[in-house]
Amino acid sequence: MDKFDKILAKAEDLPVLPHIGMEILNLIEDKFSVPADFEAIIESDQVLTLKILKMANSAYYGYAREIINVKDAVVILGLDTIKSLVLSMLTRQMLSKDLHTYGLKKGELWSHSLAVAMTARSIAKIMKLSNHEKFFVAGLLHDVGKILLDITLKNYVDNLKFQVNEGKVDFIEAELRIAGIDHALIGSKLIEIWNLPDFLVNSVRYHHTSSKAPANFKTDAYIIDVANRLSYQVAPGSSVDFRVDKNVMPEEYGKLGLTSANIEGVLDSIRTSLDALQLTE
Ligand SMILES: [Fe+2]
Ligand SMILES: [Fe+2]
Repeated sequence: MDKFDKILAKAEDLPVLPHIGMEILNLIEDKFSVPADFEAIIESDQVLTLKILKMANSAYYGYAREIINVKDAVVILGLDTIKSLVLSMLTRQMLSKDLHTYGLKKGELWSHSLAVAMTARSIAKIMKLSNHEKFFVAGLLHDVGKILLDITLKNYVDNLKFQVNEGKVDFIEAELRIAGIDHALIGSKLIEIWNLPDFLVNSVRYHHTSSKAPANFKTDAYIIDVANRLSYQVAPGSSVDFRVDKNVMPEEYGKLGLTSANIEGVLDSIRTSLDALQLTE
């Protein structure tokens, strides 16, 4: 039994991504999918449909005419917005637990993940990469491993802090020393179990160590890394990765072809959207 299996065995309730979430993720990967495919999946779930309509009709979007079905919501808000809304709603429960080990109160991992998701997607858009939505998903799931590691590390919080403060190691290294595995690796294993695409496995696996990623996933992982650190500027509840360097130097986003004006623009729009999404319950 390896480290991962042991941690899995201890996890009474494994984080679950609702089935409908898997279907949406696979459709996002599928080059041949059409809006009607997404509409059909959303409409198969009444609660989700109601939430989408409520959101679409909220003051935030401010449409004069009432939106009464998913098809209209897709036309008016755009398919990309609908996909993000659905995925945010579907992962909310899973990512909302309080995680004592990481000093995260209920809901804080979710808002952090949402901030990373939006930042990563905006960066991908500025870089004119195809399929921006993939980056939203990777951002949403990047720290999912924390949910699993929290169970193992709960009783070692003092030791973790000791390693970080006295041992002068970063939090990832401290996780490795105590649990034998870090949250990025365990998160990627979970994503493998869920049968999600390689892009997600690799961008989660290397979100703190993008230089070690396989060549064809290096840029993807680096985008999540940069988005993760930038997001601390918009979601203050999430500054718990002790000693993980949260500054992003201009030459770092420069490598992605971004300017500081780009970054300011991204962070400003995310502040607004984050407020709107927090209201959707
Ligand atoms: Fe992380
Ligand atoms: Fe993170």
